[in-house]
Amino acid sequence: MTAIKAAITGVHGYVPDYVLTNAELETMVDTNDEWITTRTGIKERRILKGENQGSSHMGAKAVEGLLKKTNTNPLDVELIICCTTTPDFVFPATANLISDMVGAKNAFSYDVQAACSGFLFSMSTAAQFIETGRYKKVIVVGADKMSSIVDYQDRTTCIIFGDGAGAVLLEPTTEQGYGLQDFVLKSDGSGVQYLVQKSGGSRRPPSIETVTNREHFIHQEGAAVFKFAVTNMADVAAEVMERNHLTADDISWLCPHQANLRIISATSQRMGIGEEKVMINIHKYGNTTDATLPLALWDYESKLKKGDNIIFAAFGGGFTWGAAYMKWAYDGKPSV
Ligand SMILES: CC(C)(COP(=O)(O)OP(=O)(O)OC[C@H]1O[C@@H](n2cnc3c(N)ncnc32)[C@H](O)[C@@H]1OP(=O)(O)O)[C@@H](O)C(=O)NCCC(=O)NCCS
Repeated sequence: MTAIKAAITGVHGYVPDYVLTNAELETMVDTNDEWITTRTGIKERRILKGENQGSSHMGAKAVEGLLKKTNTNPLDVELIICCTTTPDFVFPATANLISDMVGAKNAFSYDVQAACSGFLFSMSTAAQFIETGRYKKVIVVGADKMSSIVDYQDRTTCIIFGDGAGAVLLEPTTEQGYGLQDFVLKSDGSGVQYLVQKSGGSRRPPSIETVTNREHFIHQEGAAVFKFAVTNMADVAAEVMERNHLTADDISWLCPHQANLRIISATSQRMGIGEEKVMINIHKYGNTTDATLPLALWDYESKLKKGDNIIFAAFGGGFTWGAAYMKWAYDGKPSV
């Protein structure tokens, strides 16, 4: 019997209209376009400005577009996994809100929290449901309103992050060798001090003190995170290639987490692949945390061909990191 694998059969994204440029950031903190561009590769990022709108707003837009594009009836969706680091509420799960907003009344839904590796962790989890043979339509949506936890007085972090959402539909395939073939996922909780939102959770609930100390914003020790990311994202991408006997020539695309162009370059160099095979959109959106991988797929969808070998790679707070190998299952359609 041929094994069932999970294939991505559609992808869609959503970014808010407001564009926060490097030039505007220059008016907010002591920085400049040249520094941001050379150190990170980022030129602009999107910001969700609407009143009373959280990550679910963007996630639902991405899922609605995905359902329309793939001619999927929302009532046929069985499971929605949302990866987010900026949930609308501590509870209930943002996935639950999105399910309701898109009319996926028959789906069960839950959130996955693995910081910037969330999409890889969620897609790998979703694939397990499909591989059992029981689930046939699963959506993974990454959505983050990073602007809700970015300190726009901190020049070392406010230049990096942006808002956005991306969603994929996963369905079973028995076509030999297609779909998600392998993944390597890793976590190391001892990295907590380097990238963390210190307060607002159960350890340090909100108080006047936590607000005064700006503890509800992202705390990042950039150099430590950079060092960790450069080594580990590259290592794990190389590991997944070796495990699957893939050489650089076999790889059609690297779909990397968009955190810093220099980290992406280090990963592609370690894999031995040229820039032309690397999905890059960090200049447009910055680091949208859980949305970077699906937004990159969305941007490159029209270039993807059935049979393309794609390596996904990500790292994030925690620390968390991982890589996955997927054989793409359809010829890309132009993004809408
Ligand atoms: C944050 C990051 C871009 C900083 O780049 P860097 O090359 O490491 O820069 P450093 O932190 O060493 O700082 C160098 C100098 O630039 C300054 N600087 C920091 N941010 C600046 C900014 N926005 N504009 C201008 N100067 C800035 C620093 O104050 C420092 O000045 P000093 O030498 O006088 O002390 C980089 O460390 C990084 O990308 N880290 C990983 C972050 C990441 O990926 N996070 C997401 C994880 S999923």
